[in-house]
Amino acid sequence: MPTSNNARFWDRAARKYAASPIGDMEGYERTVAHARRYLKATDVAFEFGCGTGTTAVKLAPAAARYIATDISSEMIAIARERAVAESITNIEFAVGTADVAPYPDASFDAVLSFNVLHLIEDRAAALRGAHRMLKPGGLFISKTPALAEMNFLIRLAVPVMRAVGQAPYVAFFSNSELEREIVAAGFEIVERASHGSGKKDVRTFFVTRKA
Ligand SMILES: C[S@@+](CC[C@H](N)C(=O)[O-])C[C@H]1O[C@@H](n2cnc3c(N)ncnc32)[C@H](O)[C@@H]1O
Repeated sequence: MPTSNNARFWDRAARKYAASPIGDMEGYERTVAHARRYLKATDVAFEFGCGTGTTAVKLAPAAARYIATDISSEMIAIARERAVAESITNIEFAVGTADVAPYPDASFDAVLSFNVLHLIEDRAAALRGAHRMLKPGGLFISKTPALAEMNFLIRLAVPVMRAVGQAPYVAFFSNSELEREIVAAGFEIVERASHGSGKKDVRTFFVTRKA
């Protein structure tokens, strides 16, 4: 699906996405708490694929300035409403893709991304972008579903759903494949954790540093 079709898919999904409850709230809160611990009060942070801004508004108070982007203008509209409703004033939202972010090299102390890398067609470009925009020693913090580790039926279902416009672009990779890609983009692993409450958690939380 070309990028514009993906944006349209996420635009259509935005209000429903905003209204759906978080599946594993305890696991989610562990992720937010861990990510927050890595942010400093002086940090300028950047999040791509921020969706409706749920996580962004929770993390922004831990940083000096927080810029959050998403390919979907509908998602960004909801995220802006959320920040106003929650009186978070150090956050800026913008529409943008992960790979073509218009920020200078070494602009950020931290780059973050949650539940997004599997939805990006050129993942390597997104990871290169994160690396480029980070200051030396800056952190890239992410958590992504490794769909190759889920029930194989999802591999059959996604192409069918895409054919009828009910799914966006989705990539299938394992956590170890993703880790290799992150390392290949120039990051070293600081922490790898599983925050899910269930027995099997296919979403590894990675904290990595620009080497
Ligand atoms: C599953 S939602 C996750 C949203 C949010 N990070 C969260 O955890 O709730 C995926 C988000 O990625 C965005 N997205 C998809 N492809 C993207 C791309 N190439 N660049 C930036 N955002 C993208 C979608 O618009 C959507 O808001």
